[in-house]
Amino acid sequence: MARTLTFKIFRYNPGEPGVKPRMDEFRLTEIPMMTLFVALNKIREEQGPSLMFDFVCRAAICGSCGMMVNGEPKLACRTLTQDLPEAVTLMPLPVFKMVGDLAVDTGTWFRMMNERIGGWIHTDKMFDLQAEEARMPNKLAIKIYDADRCIECGCCIAGCATANIREDFLGAAGLNRVARFMVDPRDDRSTAQYFEVVGTDEGAFGCVGLMACHDNCPQQVPLLDQLAFVRRKLAFAGLGFDKK
Ligand code: FES
Repeated sequence: MARTLTFKIFRYNPGEPGVKPRMDEFRLTEIPMMTLFVALNKIREEQGPSLMFDFVCRAAICGSCGMMVNGEPKLACRTLTQDLPEAVTLMPLPVFKMVGDLAVDTGTWFRMMNERIGGWIHTDKMFDLQAEEARMPNKLAIKIYDADRCIECGCCIAGCATANIREDFLGAAGLNRVARFMVDPRDDRSTAQYFEVVGTDEGAFGCVGLMACHDNCPQQVPLLDQLAFVRRKLAFAGLGFDKK
């Protein structure tokens, strides 16, 4: 028999400052292979037309549907209700600026992070539009691709104890991005230059090792390996072993 799911959903609209945050309850009959995306749309269509939440791709690619599902950061579009108990509590991701109900602004945070770490190739070489595409060994391309699989959903940041208590922490997403450019031979930055950016408590040394980022990443980006790689590089450079 189909289950009846009870959704407790955080409601707050910063555009209505007089109205206090509250939890609203909705009941829904579960259908086979129902995702939270489908459930939330049904709730909005049938019961709560003002409910706010974000979706674009519905395929775990755009990273816009992150939310706290029974206390854990998850992508709503790839979370099946059959994997959840009958009582489901949905909250917006913490750390990010609230837009309304379950919708948060991850874009501003990720832009800030990318600007702080210089999240682009740094080189003095002139770009030649006519030149052949630069080749690189397959193994290296895969290493870069592994880091580039981050969809900037914010689940790693929302589940991170350090990011929740200090807003200047770059978090796993930021350190993964740094690792991506550290291995890229087209980026001319030295490890000493990277040290200036992430060699502090706001960067590689602020992580207290609870590993929630790694557990919560919906793309299974190897975030712990990336953190270890960045820390090792910085430490080796400090000891004079890494000359780049
Ligand atoms: S809707 Fe794009 S990741 Fe979920």
